[in-house]
Amino acid sequence: MIESKKVKKILYGGDYNPEQWPEEIWEEDMRMFHLAHIDVVTLNVFSWAELQKDEDTYDFSKLDKIMELARKNGLKVCLATSTAAHPAWMARKYPDILRTEYNGIRRKFGSRHNSCPNSPTYRKYSVKLAGKLAQRYQGYDNIVAWHISNEYGGTCYCDNCERAFRNWLKEKYGTIEELNRAWNMSFWGHTLYDFEDVVVPDLRSEEFDWDGERRTNFQGISLDYNRFNSDSILECYRLEYEAVKKHTPDIPVTTNFMGAYKPLDYQKWANYMDFVSWDNYPSYDGTPAQTSFNHDLMRGLKQGKPFALMEQTPSVTNWHIYCKLKRPGVMRLWSYQAVAHGADTVMFFQMRRSIGACEKYHGAVIDHVGNENTRVFREITELGLELDQIGSTLLGSRAKSQAAILFDWDNWWAAEYSAGPTRLINYHQEIMQYYKALHEQNISVDLVSVNDDLSAYKLVIAPLLYMCKEGFDEKVRSFVKQGGVFLTTYFSGYVEDHDLVVTGGYPGRLKDILGIWVEESDALPPEEANLFTYKGKTYPAGVLCDLLHLQGAKALACYEKDFYEGMPVLTQNEFGQGKAYYVAARSNEEFYADFLGGLCEELSIEPAANTPEEVEAAVRENENGNFLFLLNHRGNTVNVILEKDGEDLLTGKCYQAGDRVTLEKAGVVILKRR
Ligand code: GLA
Ligand code: ZN
Repeated sequence: MIESKKVKKILYGGDYNPEQWPEEIWEEDMRMFHLAHIDVVTLNVFSWAELQKDEDTYDFSKLDKIMELARKNGLKVCLATSTAAHPAWMARKYPDILRTEYNGIRRKFGSRHNSCPNSPTYRKYSVKLAGKLAQRYQGYDNIVAWHISNEYGGTCYCDNCERAFRNWLKEKYGTIEELNRAWNMSFWGHTLYDFEDVVVPDLRSEEFDWDGERRTNFQGISLDYNRFNSDSILECYRLEYEAVKKHTPDIPVTTNFMGAYKPLDYQKWANYMDFVSWDNYPSYDGTPAQTSFNHDLMRGLKQGKPFALMEQTPSVTNWHIYCKLKRPGVMRLWSYQAVAHGADTVMFFQMRRSIGACEKYHGAVIDHVGNENTRVFREITELGLELDQIGSTLLGSRAKSQAAILFDWDNWWAAEYSAGPTRLINYHQEIMQYYKALHEQNISVDLVSVNDDLSAYKLVIAPLLYMCKEGFDEKVRSFVKQGGVFLTTYFSGYVEDHDLVVTGGYPGRLKDILGIWVEESDALPPEEANLFTYKGKTYPAGVLCDLLHLQGAKALACYEKDFYEGMPVLTQNEFGQGKAYYVAARSNEEFYADFLGGLCEELSIEPAANTPEEVEAAVRENENGNFLFLLNHRGNTVNVILEKDGEDLLTGKCYQAGDRVTLEKAGVVILKRR
């Protein structure tokens, strides 16, 4: 939809389920949508049971009416394929479609996102349905995107999957000897004689209970199972992709992602998507940095191309443990936060609040009261008007970042499967320390994968890069040689792609770039910390403290306690034209802010703007100009002094450098600067 030539503005709308309502209500919905400036609806997300009553009987009559309704009312359609929940008859007749849990229990019919990705039944009927939908509705020129399935996810451990896993492994490793080597199967006498010996790594096989946490005895097996599961689900998506493209080659295809969602390697998935879309549901206690991080991660999946904000709640979710309302103005603020980070649509779940089952208390454009006299509807209408006014101005604009943070799904899986050295190893959290420090200084960050080109960045940070994949060290080496600045941390460079340790001292392949080697690592419990002083300030060092030796690098700070007092904790190595930094332990927010702030200053990495605390600033640029977003996340009114001239995109008011812009609580100002 964001790629479609039919789109001339930031689309505004969301998931609409008229099939849950009598037809009299539909006309009323249309009236309300027009009032609110809604112009897109996502249809048909969970209608498989309605569309296919049995093996051979398809019935599109209701969807036909709904499609007509949308067309007649000038609404664009994001058309879903309905394959995220299978029909009851299918589960009854073909139990192989049901998923098996980690504990080995096969599920019964129920819930959603419930089909085994390797079930031949699921693949056959999901693809058939997608194809039929595309064939039937190909003439509708208001379809702006295909929405395949919904929030793919989870893991299945059934017999279909076990068989498919063996084939996946045969393809990957060729021989059983190679598989035994890659998984280090001589350990605990695990040697396999045949691919038929492979079993799924679940509770029944490789479970390793680490004080109540689910880990695995064989990281290599579990890691490959994650890769396989992600690939299996991706295969389901791709089959549907092909099926719809056959009839509608020009309609872009997506599926809705969930931000930093661990089970699926979204970087791999994004290669098969025409554009990325995702669902943003910040927790009641979430921070602006966490939300921005998710947006940036999603934007990074396609190297900075705009993405679609496919879902957000207008007011409240039903599934958080405390379903706190978005305060007045916050829906607007968070919508613009998404846009500031690269969204080209603003969409909701859901258009009308259902009356039964678990989402009946989830926020909606049209609430249970059924009319427009609600706070939420008024806020939605006001934003709708603004988006009309903004029109196409911001479409396609991009962020320009000089700093990047590496994010890698394999590394995430591997680092957190590790048995030892500490349960405090948390990849996402470690990355957030660095991201937050930059975000709070309004420094634009791209979240990149190991396959992305690094050459445009001045600074690349790869926190907790436990698995340094083949070839990535070489990429970093040439990046630094050519003048780039690289930073990595404790628990990095330990293993290669199969989770086998690279011997010769940690951090393995990265040693020469960093000019150090790590001999031992001390995992401290949460209540303990070491200390170090950098530029006159003292900071804590905890979680995992590396005991390292310099091999060319210089120490910027040393531990001040314990038997490794005097050993380096922060190092810098000059390498080629560039520099490589190593942070040998977890420190605190203050350290990351000070240290990264200093680095950015040294590298002349400019913030989008200088703003008071909790006022976020981000920039997007396209041929229409350079747009500065100022987003007030504080609970009060605040002034921002501008460093450059600009014109308020919404009010037309002109400002000069040195002028003050006032932002109300939850206020947003977008300034066009050239
Ligand atoms: C997800 C789903 C929607 C709905 C919302 C509720 O994002 O895609 O179908 O369940 O959550 O928050
Ligand atoms: Zn399965």
